[in-house]
Amino acid sequence: MRRKIVAGNWKMNMDMDSGYDLVRSIIRSLPEISGAEVILAPPFPFLAPVAKMLQNHDSIKLAAQNCHHEGSGAYTGEVSAAMLASFGVSNVILGHSERRQYFGETDAIISKKIDNALTNGVDPIYCFGETLEQRDSGNHFKVVTDQISEALNDYPNDRLDNLVIAYEPVWAIGTGLTATPDQAQEIHQHVRSLMTTQFGPEGAGVRILYGGSCKPGNAAELFAQPDIDGGLIGGASLNADDFLGIIKACST
Ligand code: PGA
Repeated sequence: MRRKIVAGNWKMNMDMDSGYDLVRSIIRSLPEISGAEVILAPPFPFLAPVAKMLQNHDSIKLAAQNCHHEGSGAYTGEVSAAMLASFGVSNVILGHSERRQYFGETDAIISKKIDNALTNGVDPIYCFGETLEQRDSGNHFKVVTDQISEALNDYPNDRLDNLVIAYEPVWAIGTGLTATPDQAQEIHQHVRSLMTTQFGPEGAGVRILYGGSCKPGNAAELFAQPDIDGGLIGGASLNADDFLGIIKACST
């Protein structure tokens, strides 16, 4: 049974006060809602304080939005997986399209980051997805196939339980355009079979999230698809009611 996950990626949003208010609201309301594993991914400066706020709330996990591919060294401005692990960050989002687009991250670099995260006990949430141009030219299946096989090429079979992957069509991120449940399911099903080909039967158990303008109004329909195991939420994770509404959609 693949338990659903709702992960909130704040990106470069919120300040200290609004961020902590948001976390407090989620902590307050979450006991009334069940059905999903919840992960919060605030920006780096808020991770350590939010880790403290979550100390007695095991049902909420903490993720970073990125980490460096090396363990330590002269990389000004960067953060390592080991640093994250040292104060209780359990997950890290890697391969997000904004990192690929604005920071030139390639599948090869992302693969190294995944490896380094695993070495340090931080579980990767690996993102992949096609651009509008790639979809319009009919290349979306090939694009996601390549992103999966290249970045997860060396992924160890015995760490599959630590892996979550997220299909995030670039054309749906922050645009208000959501993939239809059928469009998303078609890719998720394809990716699940790729995972099985690459890793054997255990590959089929890896949870695959959908991300891209997911909101309380469309989440239930998306999450009802057989291969969609929850959501990676950007904009709607910045508002407690919206984020909680999406978590609720996991139990409908
Ligand atoms: P969005 O972002 O929900 O604002 O579209 C999703 C993401 O980038 O993870």
